Amino acid sequence: MKNKNIQKGFSKLPVSEKRKIAASLCDDAAAAINQMESFLHPVPEVQQVLEGLSENTISNYPLPYNVAPNFIINGTTYMVPMVIEESSVVAAASSAARFWASRGGFHAHVKNNKKAGQLHFLYRGDINKLRTAMPGIEEFLRRYAKPVTQNMEKRGGGILTITLKHRPEVWDHYCQLHVEFDTKDAMGANFINSCLEEFSEGMKSYLRATAGFNENDYEPLMAILSNYNDQCIVHVNVSSPLELLEEATKELSAEDFVRRFIMAVHIAGSDVSRATTHNKGIMNGVDAVILATGNDFRAIEAGAHAYAARSGQYRSLSTATVEDGIFTFSLDMPMALGTTGGLTRLHPMASRSLQILGNPSAEDLMMIAGAAGLANNFAAVKSLTTTGIQAGHMRMHLSNITMQLKATQEETQKIKDHFAGQKVSYQAVAAYLDQLRNNQDS
Ligand code: MEV
Repeated sequence: MKNKNIQKGFSKLPVSEKRKIAASLCDDAAAAINQMESFLHPVPEVQQVLEGLSENTISNYPLPYNVAPNFIINGTTYMVPMVIEESSVVAAASSAARFWASRGGFHAHVKNNKKAGQLHFLYRGDINKLRTAMPGIEEFLRRYAKPVTQNMEKRGGGILTITLKHRPEVWDHYCQLHVEFDTKDAMGANFINSCLEEFSEGMKSYLRATAGFNENDYEPLMAILSNYNDQCIVHVNVSSPLELLEEATKELSAEDFVRRFIMAVHIAGSDVSRATTHNKGIMNGVDAVILATGNDFRAIEAGAHAYAARSGQYRSLSTATVEDGIFTFSLDMPMALGTTGGLTRLHPMASRSLQILGNPSAEDLMMIAGAAGLANNFAAVKSLTTTGIQAGHMRMHLSNITMQLKATQEETQKIKDHFAGQKVSYQAVAAYLDQLRNNQDS
């Protein structure tokens, strides 16, 4: 059966033609083209950069670019750029940052900053012989990959360790070289993948050239970095004596606030349904910084959730305790980030974000993104265990509702005034707008 929607040679068509074909799928093709064109960047060089980042680009998809001020991290004050569409996230991050700014700010350190990758292969020869030869193989591979590693080595990074793992329980003859890297301020994905591909070829060369080995015993399968960055961990915490938390909420004493807060975090540490949402609250802050700085949020997401499940059960990434009258709220999570190379420099707004942050090193950025994650997590758990999430969330969402209802500026202001002390819901706002309009008519 032929499907007439299958496009052949689509990627080779001019952009305007691709736009026309996509627009033809919409109700009003002319309006769709106009809209897509209106989102093109007015500076042709910038549009060219954006189109160069992907394939089949027919327009741009703008998201709000926001800043959260007053993040004090290890004594330095940052204004944190965040790209996110969810209305309450930046407000929550800013209010948590401000709250902790007067209580010593965020304390952070990078526990370790190693990236990893694997060469997966089958080895049908004598595995013990291969294992014994590993010191020589390692030396050979390091030499073989020199053209790829020398620049990184000049910057103080490179290959750290190479470990042979034999995993016949997964597949007959299955082995891997598990390789650790130091990629300095680069995220390092291309560097790691290139090194591993060199290793794949290098293994073949070694086995071909070394007496007692046969290159036909070796079948390379794939060479790729790992996003399970359990050796690239940032730690962030906030802490305060209970007496400084008396004003944390209007409703509760410091003891009650902390008791309820710790209970909520503990639940996220033991219940997968709650843990997933709790961690989503952390990723609200983290992803927004990752996006603003041109890093790969899918890699960070994948790594974070795998790390959250490292005990065999998916758990909260953050923990909360009170000891000797001191409340501490901490986050440990993988954060493989870069501040040089890739999109961080190509995307004009990504490099602007790094400037706003004072051109941080990769490790500084790990701590900043971690602090944003902890800030959002703090704000969410605080709301959940006090007023409930909807009060603040819906207040922030009010502008979205007035836009959906096509309220005028004057009507929007009246709606905002009216709902300042009231529960917000779509129905309530729609009813109030009706009432405003009916009163005007009568
Ligand atoms: C919403 O984006 C995030 C929260 O659901 C996080 C949480 O429940 O902790 C509020």
